[in-house]
Amino acid sequence: MAAKRIDGKVISAYIKERAAKEAAQVAQILGRKPCLAVIIVGENPASKVYVNNKKKACEACGITSLEYALPELTSERELLDLIGTLNRDDAVDGILCQLPLPGHISEEKVIEAISPEKDVDGFHPVNVGKMLTGGDGFLPCTPAGLIEMLKYENIPIEGKRCVVIGRSNIVGKPAAILMQRENATVTVCHSKTRNLKEILLQADIIVASVGKPHFLTADMVKPGAVVLDVGINRLPDKTLVGDAEFAEVAEVASYITPVPGGVGPMTVAMLMQNTVMAAKRSAALNDS
Ligand code: GUN
Repeated sequence: MAAKRIDGKVISAYIKERAAKEAAQVAQILGRKPCLAVIIVGENPASKVYVNNKKKACEACGITSLEYALPELTSERELLDLIGTLNRDDAVDGILCQLPLPGHISEEKVIEAISPEKDVDGFHPVNVGKMLTGGDGFLPCTPAGLIEMLKYENIPIEGKRCVVIGRSNIVGKPAAILMQRENATVTVCHSKTRNLKEILLQADIIVASVGKPHFLTADMVKPGAVVLDVGINRLPDKTLVGDAEFAEVAEVASYITPVPGGVGPMTVAMLMQNTVMAAKRSAALNDS
């Protein structure tokens, strides 16, 4: 059996179109476009690519993007001050600080400094808490994108066994929570998990967020399982690959997301959706 490729480019285009329509409506109410402030500190090449993709998506969706490219040696205080200024600026709806940050800056402090109402990454503890309790905060973009992909393809989640590999704050942990919110039965595996293969072979849906190329092989996948590959790994020859050994896993799975062109574009699309939502909320406040 050859798996169906879930095309993240097609699904993200659909979400961005929807976000663009809503952005235009919100602009009518606010008298300005929705606005996203993107902060990048230092010279991480991958981060620069991601930030550039976010800027381009903003342009395509009718969202103003403000870029703050700060030098590597920016102090934590300077960064926190900038965030404070953006928090107070009524013309800014969303604030995003690209991670990772240089070692001398506390990511925790920076995430907590962003106003929860502008935290379009969904990383602030207030939004993490709302995600846990089912509230209507901002959901983190990559995990929310995974759910959107499954829904777009009409892949049922309820009652399914989902195994998430990886427990990062950005992907693994929130992906597990969101799958559970959709009524999946979720297991989170990580580097200390014993009998990983045995657990994976029970999964109807696998979320691979390990960050290791060739990690997920066909013998670890139940025939007909759905494989969502969140890995973005660069091989020595510069090829971009996910965590799954794509060709062989595609022979066993029923659906699989390719890398590139799978989960990656969804992250940016969900960010656009969150930014428009932030602007809508501020428009609603203006109305009342
Ligand atoms: N670094 C890797 N992924 C992300 C993301 O979704 N948001 C931010 N801010 N930084 C990241």
